[in-house]
Amino acid sequence: MQIIVVKDKVAGGKAALKVFAAAKARGVKVFGLATGGTPETTYAELVASDLDFTDSISINLDEYVGLAANHPQSYAYYMHHHLFFAKPFAASYLPNGLATDPAAECARYDQILADHHVGLQLLGIGRNGHIGFNEPGSPFDGTTHEVALTPSTIAANARFFDRPADVPKRALSMGIGAIMQADQILLEAYGSDKAAAIQAMIEGPVTTAVPASVLQQHPNVIVILDQAAAAKLS
Ligand code: F6R
Repeated sequence: MQIIVVKDKVAGGKAALKVFAAAKARGVKVFGLATGGTPETTYAELVASDLDFTDSISINLDEYVGLAANHPQSYAYYMHHHLFFAKPFAASYLPNGLATDPAAECARYDQILADHHVGLQLLGIGRNGHIGFNEPGSPFDGTTHEVALTPSTIAANARFFDRPADVPKRALSMGIGAIMQADQILLEAYGSDKAAAIQAMIEGPVTTAVPASVLQQHPNVIVILDQAAAAKLS
């Protein structure tokens, strides 16, 4: 695991841009993408860059159940708003949060992942160590599935919604098995509320109780942290 500690998330976005540029330079054509507060500076850097993704495919980690793609808090909307408006891809995939048959939707997504090998996977991390929406206890070989979000994740996501009752309680998420298939993983974390999860991910035992700890078993992981998120590392 390569750990890069930067001053703040703006510097983190610049460091992440270099990882994306290097991936493009070595011919990566499939990018696994994340949403949330963490990658916002990365997407701002990508938007401002001269990188072109019109020959590339994007596959997002997850989507809330019950939100249409044009809902302002859906991850489809987020991706359009932060990246795709300026950097279109040849094709962009997200789970369909309105799917009437979630099991069929998960199978469709697993087929997309089987058809497109991810070269670079971008990740954030939850305060409880989740990656994607693979909450603690998720199996390391898991496939795309419907998730009941934990109270901690729902509380963390509430900042993006007007009313607590509006925060989705369920999501469709890529499984850890698919995340681990990526050739390279870039995980970013900023702020003191991620420090405990980062310490457990990097220095703790590999355990399903901390889903991100599985990354210790991946051969090519880059972690970009600000000083607050790195504060508990020894
Ligand atoms: C988002 C995702 C989640 C977030 C995590 C951190 O697509 O899969 O794992 O990366 O919940 O969220 P933020 O960045 O908002 O702190």
